[in-house]
Amino acid sequence: MRLVGVIGSGIMGSGIAEVIAKSGIDVVIRSRSQETADATKNAIESSLKKQLAKSKISQEQLDAAMAHICVTSTLDDLANCDLIIESVAEDLATKKELFAALDKAVKPSCILSTNTSTLPVIELAKVTNRPDKVCGIHFFNPAVLMPLVEVVRPITASDETIALANSFVKACAKDAVQVVDRAGFIVNALLFPYLNNAIAMFEAGTASMEDIDVAMKGGCNFPMGPFALLDLVGLDTSVAILDALHAEFKSANLEPRPMLKKLVSEGKLGRKTKQGFYSY
Ligand code: 3HC
Repeated sequence: MRLVGVIGSGIMGSGIAEVIAKSGIDVVIRSRSQETADATKNAIESSLKKQLAKSKISQEQLDAAMAHICVTSTLDDLANCDLIIESVAEDLATKKELFAALDKAVKPSCILSTNTSTLPVIELAKVTNRPDKVCGIHFFNPAVLMPLVEVVRPITASDETIALANSFVKACAKDAVQVVDRAGFIVNALLFPYLNNAIAMFEAGTASMEDIDVAMKGGCNFPMGPFALLDLVGLDTSVAILDALHAEFKSANLEPRPMLKKLVSEGKLGRKTKQGFYSY
């Protein structure tokens, strides 16, 4: 891969672009406005500066990574990309519209991938004229630290597309796992029933949020308890993931818990709004 396009400037888009630039690959970040595009580049620079202050990277590595990044607000600037990673809001209609536009904007050999957590990749492949070149490349939050990437294979994807996706993940120094196109893939399909059940346990008065978090850290050696993790992932994203899992698997314990939905309706989305289950 010579040039990778990242679409979306949220926590995931920004983290993925940072990973790519640090791997020595040119990346162009497309955001809806030039202001948010510029803000994303600044956020990546701040993240790299923190790593420099902790002597995790050198000034040369910071400069090299920044030299690999450019930003834009138009899809046309992605025309020469070899790979696109879409990381916009978890809304199928929005993503379908974007994939149809991308299909027209980028060169025929470009692979179109999505960082969706749960939505069917095949639905995105179907709106393009290159369904063999569409797959999922799913990073985890925070992308810079989490070693895993799920490579998601819809039935339409060619062996060559999946091989290229895997070699890209390897070039980013991440570990790839292979999974078919089913809601939640591997990680979210196993993680979110647990997170939703933790909320149910708190709602039932079994234990406090704090003690449930302490219990799962100390009792299972998880790096974070379920409430801290929900706040990290984002409560709106968590509702979207549970809705998609519930739509596919129908199990009652996949229905987003009332407390989760209430926090979202109040605009308390987790760390990104400085208030979720906890205050930040
Ligand atoms: N971005 C960048 N760096 C971060 C960070 C972030 N969001 N959070 C923490 N760090 C850095 C800190 O600066 C610190 O650096 P230092 O060692 O140089 O001081 C280092 O990471 C360790 O941080 P902390 O000591 O504060 O905290 P932890 O030791 O707990 O590590 C963590 C943080 C890696 C986030 C760890 O808690 C963890 O692994 N948590 C679980 C995360 C997880 O499960 N993610 C998957 C969520 S599901 C998902 O993403 C799927 C999607 O589809 C929703």
